[in-house]
Amino acid sequence: MQSFYITTPIYYVNARPHLGHAYTTFVADTLKRFHRMCGEDARMLTGTDEHGDKIVKAAAKAGKTPQEFVDGISAEYQALWPKLGIEHDQFIRTTDPAHKAAVQAFLQRIYDKGDIYFGEYGGHYCTGCERFYTEKELENGLCPQHLTRPEYISEKNYFFRMSKYQGWLKQYILDNPDFIRPERYRNEVLAMLENGVLEDLCISRPKTRLEWGIELPFDRNYVCYVWFDALTNYISALGWPDNEQDEKGNYRRYWPGEHLVAKDILKPHGIFWPTMLKAADLPIYRHLNVHGYWLVKDTKMSKSLGNVVDPQVAANVFGLDAFRYFLMREMNFGSDASFSEEAIITRVNADLANDLGNLFSRVLSMNAKYFGGKVPAHGVPDEADEELNRLTDNACANYVQLFRQMRCSQALDCLWEPVRAMNKYVDVQAPWTLAKEGKTERLGAVLRTLLEAMYRVAALLWPVMPSSSAAMQEQLGHPLDEKRFSAAKLDDLLVSRTHLRTGEPIAAKSALFPRLEMPTKEEKTGKTEKGENKKATPAQQPQPGAKAFIEFADFEKLDLRVGIILAAEQHPNADKLLRFDVDLGEDRPRQICSGIAAHFKPEDLIGKKVVVVANLPPRKLRGLESQGMILTAEWDGGLSLLSAEAPAGSSIR
Ligand code: MSP
Repeated sequence: MQSFYITTPIYYVNARPHLGHAYTTFVADTLKRFHRMCGEDARMLTGTDEHGDKIVKAAAKAGKTPQEFVDGISAEYQALWPKLGIEHDQFIRTTDPAHKAAVQAFLQRIYDKGDIYFGEYGGHYCTGCERFYTEKELENGLCPQHLTRPEYISEKNYFFRMSKYQGWLKQYILDNPDFIRPERYRNEVLAMLENGVLEDLCISRPKTRLEWGIELPFDRNYVCYVWFDALTNYISALGWPDNEQDEKGNYRRYWPGEHLVAKDILKPHGIFWPTMLKAADLPIYRHLNVHGYWLVKDTKMSKSLGNVVDPQVAANVFGLDAFRYFLMREMNFGSDASFSEEAIITRVNADLANDLGNLFSRVLSMNAKYFGGKVPAHGVPDEADEELNRLTDNACANYVQLFRQMRCSQALDCLWEPVRAMNKYVDVQAPWTLAKEGKTERLGAVLRTLLEAMYRVAALLWPVMPSSSAAMQEQLGHPLDEKRFSAAKLDDLLVSRTHLRTGEPIAAKSALFPRLEMPTKEEKTGKTEKGENKKATPAQQPQPGAKAFIEFADFEKLDLRVGIILAAEQHPNADKLLRFDVDLGEDRPRQICSGIAAHFKPEDLIGKKVVVVANLPPRKLRGLESQGMILTAEWDGGLSLLSAEAPAGSSIR
């Protein structure tokens, strides 16, 4: 069985987990699930990076010993991931004794090979980055990351002969075009290798300056540089070096693995780590997958700006699967993306509530109404059914291929093609008309075509939205069984158009993705302004020229519904009026008169979906009773009918 091993960066424990950490971890979880669904032996690793200057300083600030401090924050990370539905197989801490022993073995191996030497070094040291900068790398004498002045330090230290591997690494990247992806990051690393000489890497800190680290096995007066320590986690977690020769051990089973990082740590992963592995004669990882940054309203998240997004709060407010879907869909892997409430609400309402949720709700309720909630038989497919099936086949195949290339956003976009096409297919096939006309066989064929395609989409969505996918599969009478994942099952999902069983009962309704509303200030802060006069403040006054504010309760009195025009003709007694029969999902159609004759030919409007105010008292217009009002949008001389893609009778809120 093919194996797949995905890692996240191990996070520093000097800060609490935020949206950025959660994103990388969600992507890793999604990829692990995707590869499991492909029938592979998939494993996921995450953890915490606990040594170094930064941690010592943060611990001192918190009045704790480094060990107490790292235990506390590492526990927060460990507790968070299961709450976000993350199913990692292992959580590693760099303070684990087995990890420390592995780092020492790794250092010793490279030392014995002659690629670690002792030398004098002077450089500009930034404690924020925990690294030395050369004069050339500083910007106006400041660290380019932290914009602080580094300290000039000169001391004797151990060095890894990284320069020796510059030519090898460059060639390796040229020979393996997708080793670092997307391409822009590959080019960045190539540029670092092509512009000048790669310097050797200082890999020690004298204990006189820093004690909180792993001792060098060949000199007890020094501890290991954090990056050398941290990067080794990817193999120490697999039990290396003890099981290096053991065919059945995790190291041989899963290494080389697949790394996931953001662009901030491209250099250590793209340059230090492959050269370290090469020097230790170990296989190089498969791919470095680099993503961009989540910005909040176009600025970087930072504690001082107070704009740090707490992933747990977001999952609670928007729903875990909706939050996961948004993150996967909104960020084009490799580029930066912006997080805002507006962005998530817009995306979730459009893709989940309107497209996918509405599809499930309307198809399941029609199936309940027309077939007692049982799966109808396949009919003889007509051209429209074939077209929808072909589109679904293609979309499913592309989805899987794009996922394999780490292009999750494009993959989801692809899968939404059949979702949108299915909603259109419902409108065009109009099952309610087939029912009225007694065309039961065709009605069954239409619903079966839809149910089968819905099942394929729902099953493929599992890596991104595990609970909703399981719920949708259950609604379709096919509960998810993770034990049955296999390459053959995935192939079947991609090509077969028969997954459900004729006559089996399925759900009569579905309401999986509620529309999201902008959370009120009170909901976000959890505070109410009890007893305060809640009159509109100046910023809340209507715009000039707009109508006065109404109470929400007044708006709620309106009964707005989707109607389908069944018949339309000129009003017998008025040139400006048209007379309609409109299906509002009630026992019989309503007669509605509307003053839109100047804009439309009545016959063009038959079958059109409109929005109707359904609770106005009936009123006689030139001798004919009008039992509602059709809504229109008007502008200079122009007029159009409001419409909504939903079954007749759907209420509008
Ligand atoms: N400890 C090192 C990594 C060692 S790996 C051997 C480290 N830790 S970190 O806590 O700073 O985590 C950095 C990582 O967190 C990024 O590479 C990314 O995965 C994630 N993110 C932190 N902020 C982020 C955003 N604003 N947006 C997206 N991801 C970001 O570096």
